Amino acid sequence: MAEYDGMKVPSHVAIIMDGNGRWAKKRGRPRSFGHAQGCTVVEQTVRDAADLGIDYLTVYAFSTENWKRSEEEVSALMRLFRIYIKKLLKVALEKNVKVVMIGERSRFAPDLIAGLNELEEKTRDNTRMTFVIAINYGSRDEIRRAMTRMAEDVKRGLVQPEAVSEELISSYLDTAGLPDPDLLIRTSGELRLSNFLLWQLAYTELYVTDVLWPDFNKDELIRAIRAYNGRERRFGGVVS
Ligand code: IPE
Ligand code: IPE
Ligand code: MG
Repeated sequence: MAEYDGMKVPSHVAIIMDGNGRWAKKRGRPRSFGHAQGCTVVEQTVRDAADLGIDYLTVYAFSTENWKRSEEEVSALMRLFRIYIKKLLKVALEKNVKVVMIGERSRFAPDLIAGLNELEEKTRDNTRMTFVIAINYGSRDEIRRAMTRMAEDVKRGLVQPEAVSEELISSYLDTAGLPDPDLLIRTSGELRLSNFLLWQLAYTELYVTDVLWPDFNKDELIRAIRAYNGRERRFGGVVS
């Protein structure tokens, strides 16, 4: 765990990046304008997190439920992802960041899937920070997919029902091999998880700010880390 300005920097920070639409509305602009600004902030946050010594940064970029938005908004988001994947590759190579995707990517257009695969492959050996992007991600869908694969393995005789441990369940999730988040930040004030990492957030400290995602910056990230440092972490038993 790194230190910054006398504080312990949490090893794994997860963020529900919310409020792009409200940010745009306040300016009388279309929602896609908020999403474009939101993408710029993601890029800067990757840099800031790496500089602060965070080991894992996970962001919720697009949920399984977000397909229900208007066709116009969904296609604007897909256009932005295409542009953004290229920018992110540059940042990741420059900052020695490994990029990993969680969620179900087969629903995306073939060129987008190819771009996401390339991003993972070209950054696979980077070591400074792991940046996890949740895209077409929903925790219940992740658990459903994991259970399907586990059931197949049971049927084939590869897994015995008595051997189903918490560790085994974790190993079937998209986040296999990643530690659970220490701190969850949600921007824009909503007090819910919106189907994000339900299993993995079991003992994560929660921090909600009214700041809208496009206004998020390094000072806000440091503020969240400061709040985290003031917490007494418990894992059901005693203070850690
Ligand atoms: C978060 O901002 C970005 C995505 C979910 C893709 P929203 O688009 O949810 O913005 P609000 O919540 O409507 O302000
Ligand atoms: C959560 O935000 C999903 C992402 C940030 C990608 P939403 O805006 O979609 O969630 P709800 O609808 O407020 O729960
Ligand atoms: Mg929202």
